[in-house]
Amino acid sequence: MNDLQRLRAGIDRIDGELARLFEERMAAAAEIAAWKRENGRPVRDPAREREVLDRAAARIEDPALRPRFAALMEALMAQSREYQSGLLDGAAGISSPACRGGGPASRPVEGCLSHGTPGIGYPIFLERGALSRAASLLDLDRRVFVVTDDGVPARYAETLAAQCRAATVFTIPRGEASKSPKMLTALLEAMLRAGLTRGDCAVAVGGGVVGDLTGLAAALCLRGIDWYNVPTTLLAMVDSSVGGKTAVDLDGVKNAVGAFWQPRAVLIDPELLETLPPRQLSNGLAEAVKMALTHDAGLFARFEDPAGYGPVEDLIAACLRIKTAVVAADERDHGVRQALNFGHTLGHGLEAAAGGRLLHGEAVALGMLPMCASEVRARLLPVLERLGLPTSVNFDLDPEQAIAAICHDKKRLDSRFVTVFVPEIGSWEFREAGLNELRGLLTGCEGVRHDC
Ligand SMILES: NC(=O)c1ccc[n+]([C@@H]2O[C@H](COP(=O)([O-])OP(=O)(O)OC[C@H]3O[C@@H](n4cnc5c(N)ncnc54)[C@H](O)[C@@H]3O)[C@@H](O)[C@H]2O)c1
Repeated sequence: MNDLQRLRAGIDRIDGELARLFEERMAAAAEIAAWKRENGRPVRDPAREREVLDRAAARIEDPALRPRFAALMEALMAQSREYQSGLLDGAAGISSPACRGGGPASRPVEGCLSHGTPGIGYPIFLERGALSRAASLLDLDRRVFVVTDDGVPARYAETLAAQCRAATVFTIPRGEASKSPKMLTALLEAMLRAGLTRGDCAVAVGGGVVGDLTGLAAALCLRGIDWYNVPTTLLAMVDSSVGGKTAVDLDGVKNAVGAFWQPRAVLIDPELLETLPPRQLSNGLAEAVKMALTHDAGLFARFEDPAGYGPVEDLIAACLRIKTAVVAADERDHGVRQALNFGHTLGHGLEAAAGGRLLHGEAVALGMLPMCASEVRARLLPVLERLGLPTSVNFDLDPEQAIAAICHDKKRLDSRFVTVFVPEIGSWEFREAGLNELRGLLTGCEGVRHDC
């Protein structure tokens, strides 16, 4: 054996040892993922990651090698994080062929939701122009009940209907008021009149209102029929179209009556955003900021970039990666999914008390501000301003009306409320709050701009 062969053999031995250690590390990561799933804990723990990294780098004696080692560790931790997310995700992963719903032409499948239960999962198609080739992605060769609202350009529902074997288009009045039991009944009656059978389907072509209502009607019609979601607002594309939460409001209580009923597929065509008014675009960005604040510091940094947050499809894909992973870990909202309620406890109260003057995302933006550490809030404020979202309430609002609405909040635990707090960007924790604390925080929402 010459010198070079001997040196190479030394490297081979070390690489072998590294491979063994890598496997050991990933096995430990799998154990951590299982523990997190059982205990409803978030995947990321940035403070702990930093600590591990610093401690390990300090062991390297050669100062020249230290930054290289730190970079290697960062990469390893990113891998480990991705691996844990994948495990929490029921091993579905993104773009899983098993979840593909379309034919060979159905490129690209950006995200795929699976619940870890074989056979349950659905594709999310995210592609410009996807609406015009919906028939190659969704099973429309049956009776299709298309629901839209009168604020959504009619050509979107028509484009979809034209690709169906037999379609009925049902148009509801725009706005939250349509998320009512009365409208739900009207929809169900129309579905029966259209002669739908268990093998037929509904398609929502609209924002969160159309999606929530259509999903619930599909859950109830003939004890449950297939439905597809074709979101047309940014809010629905980044959030509400995925996850199967469907509902109507009752007696002023938001989402009081609903069901978990997953769509068979979600088809997102970002071109449909071209007709969306700027205020509605900002409204959707609020939910994207919520996901970034709670789950992804890198995504939040994109909102801070003075050059803008980049292509909207990248933003949608980033949000849906978070949403699908969270929903897959906790479909029924008993644990980690509640992190996505960040900003919503106060937000729902504000939205109800504002009587239509605040859009859902605007109320969530205000509701997020008091629920994060002061350093986080200091970074959040300019982001909300840049995105055209409110940072204070500039009209008369009765806090007691907001409190009354919050009291109906589903997250209530007797006289205590479970709220979500962001101590550091990219992480979250549950905090309990009493009614008086919430009252104080609400005042914070109203005047938070001046407090900072
Ligand atoms: N199910 C969930 O997980 C979930 C999550 C978040 C929010 N939501 C619900 O979503 C609802 C809010 O959804 P939203 O913000 O999409 O509001 P929305 O559905 O009321 O749509 C907003 C407005 O935009 C119009 N519009 C829609 N698409 C358009 C387009 N492409 N071009 C022009 N105009 C268009 C609509 O006609 C409507 O007037 C709330 O009821 C909220 O509770 C549900």
